[in-house]
Amino acid sequence: MEVGELAARAAAVLRKNDMGGWTRAAPNLYPHQWSWDSAFIAIGLAHLDVGRAAAEIRSLLDHQWKTGKVPHIVFNPDAPPESYFPGPEHWASAADSPDAPSSPARTSGLCQPPAHAIAVRRILEVAEKRGEGVAEAREFLREIYPKLLAWHRYLATARDPEGSGLVTIFHPWESGTDNSPRWSAALERVEVGEMPDYARLDLNYVPDPSERPTGPEYDRFIWLVEVIKRNGCNDAATYDASPFLVKDVLASAILVRANEALLEIAEVTGAPDGDRATIRAWIERGRAGLDERWDPRLKLCLDYDLRAGEPLRARTIAGFAPLISGTERPERLRALLDALDSRAFAGHPNLRWPLPPSTSPEEPEFHPRSYWRGPTWPVMNWLLWWSLIEAGEKERAVRLKSQGLAQLSDGRFGEYYEPFTGEPLGSDGQSWTAAVALDWLANEEVSEKP
Ligand code: SER
Repeated sequence: MEVGELAARAAAVLRKNDMGGWTRAAPNLYPHQWSWDSAFIAIGLAHLDVGRAAAEIRSLLDHQWKTGKVPHIVFNPDAPPESYFPGPEHWASAADSPDAPSSPARTSGLCQPPAHAIAVRRILEVAEKRGEGVAEAREFLREIYPKLLAWHRYLATARDPEGSGLVTIFHPWESGTDNSPRWSAALERVEVGEMPDYARLDLNYVPDPSERPTGPEYDRFIWLVEVIKRNGCNDAATYDASPFLVKDVLASAILVRANEALLEIAEVTGAPDGDRATIRAWIERGRAGLDERWDPRLKLCLDYDLRAGEPLRARTIAGFAPLISGTERPERLRALLDALDSRAFAGHPNLRWPLPPSTSPEEPEFHPRSYWRGPTWPVMNWLLWWSLIEAGEKERAVRLKSQGLAQLSDGRFGEYYEPFTGEPLGSDGQSWTAAVALDWLANEEVSEKP
């Protein structure tokens, strides 16, 4: 498909999923606003309308918890109850938490990777590049800065009482990479207790159940939700009680970059020096924490199971965390680039496009159709492309982008893609897939600075 046509189709996906000031993640499977989806969606929207991009983030952060937590889902009050599980009824008790927002729309009690500050800075970058909406973007940065700061402070404190620089998650859904083999060993240790029966709804929208998490995985997901609810969605209580307590290196790497973005936002908005010193310290601590999670044998970064006191050994896309955070160690960057090019990832000879699968095809738990166990995710390609540019690897970045666009050239904007055949899987018309395509297509030079 020709470039202009692809961009028009991507814009049409975002328009179709626009619910009036916020965007549903996908037409049927995901009828609500998801936190990290929204961040990427805002990046795409920035190319269409600065005000609408700002509204996307604003409407999410309107539902920020009093602790600073940004909820992983803001439920659409108009979505029918049979459209998504676990929906607002299931999370109703979260609203009783003294920390819950007083906004009328309900939220989940979880959070997701903090890509929001990266999106907010990009809204300004795109506006400056296009010479349109710059004053509006700056004003938005001023408005949203305190909320982003509170969000990052929450992650640095409530989610890191150890001061390790790494974000703790209570549920695989908080990683955004739900059924990745990253979590297998930790999930196996979770014993499912007594809980009410439940009916999955996700399988109603996906023709092939092997594209979604399995029944036993889902039982554990729902049990972990139950544990969080029984602890009143209180972070300290959940820290003590949750059988799943993990340091997530991908979320931590995204937080490092989000803190860099926040530092720039702090400059633009003239925030106090004290804030800037705090943010700088978070950045340093984040990089140091990731350094400690490096596995020299796998040449990847590993998540850490706090309950078992051991690293979680699985070769997945999250292992590239130090590439995403940026690293000051050239030898580590080199090792990561080698791993990216190797047969274990984008160099596998049978791939339809040389794009890194979410789980290495060499991992025993690899599955080419199952959600985060193997398919390629466009939004991950975007993140790696952007990280390569930040790392000064412009040629690689350009190659990755052109392969990433080739993958999307059928205009279906799948949720994820079978890595060997290139078949789109999960939901078609996925908002964040369309958004990253728009960013790639519309304004290539914005972050492709030499
Ligand atoms: N990703 C999860 C789902 O599929 C929850 O956020 O429902």
